[in-house]
Amino acid sequence: MKVIVCKNYEEMSVTAAQIVADVMKADPACVLGLATGSTPVGMYKKLIEMNKAGEIDFSGITTVNLDEYYPIAPDNDQSYRYFMNENLFNHVNIDKSRTFVPNGMAADPVAACEAYEETVANVGAAAIQVLGIGQNGHIGFNEPDTALEVRTHVTDLTESTIKANARFFASEADVPTKALTMGIGTILNAKKIIILANGAAKHEAVSKMLAGKLDTSCPASMLNLHSDVIVVCDEAALNG
Ligand code: GLP
Repeated sequence: MKVIVCKNYEEMSVTAAQIVADVMKADPACVLGLATGSTPVGMYKKLIEMNKAGEIDFSGITTVNLDEYYPIAPDNDQSYRYFMNENLFNHVNIDKSRTFVPNGMAADPVAACEAYEETVANVGAAAIQVLGIGQNGHIGFNEPDTALEVRTHVTDLTESTIKANARFFASEADVPTKALTMGIGTILNAKKIIILANGAAKHEAVSKMLAGKLDTSCPASMLNLHSDVIVVCDEAALNG
């Protein structure tokens, strides 16, 4: 894994946006794998600025998002579909019909996961997959476990993730307890991966990931199986 250490959140966001922009310039019709959470918000802001300045073009881009809560409506302001619209899609020249997020309202969530895995396969491998990392080392919503799922699946959120994400909801009780998420294999299928991490709360997870061992108690450690991963982080995430 290549590690880029940044001075602060701003520098991390600019660095990550530049990496994504370079991929888009190399192939303006590529697939971007995108993530939610507070970490990539600054990167999305930079990408919006670059699009408005005419430096990057989203008109030929397809996007596939990692995950979605379940159940949740797309117009719920805590849904990841809503997040993506608000933080990126509404502000750039993307064709929204080419933006894919797992269906948080599906009557049959297992079938929705199979359908999503098929969509991701049909659009083709992501030229780059952007990831954040959970405090417990999760990527997407692949939570620590004795065994990790390979493909898109329904998952139960851990207590730690529900607590960490409660800050975005009215109360902890409002956080959905399940999610639909790409599996580790789905994520590893991307041609290139960047994983962003800032703040000391991410230090333990980042350390386990960088230890170079495959450890199911830290799903991000599975990224060691990929040959082109860039960790873009700040000092606190790297050194605590
Ligand atoms: C969320 C998302 C992840 C995200 C992570 C970290 O639950 N499912 O994709 O990377 O948790 O979130 P944050 O960036 O807000 O710390």
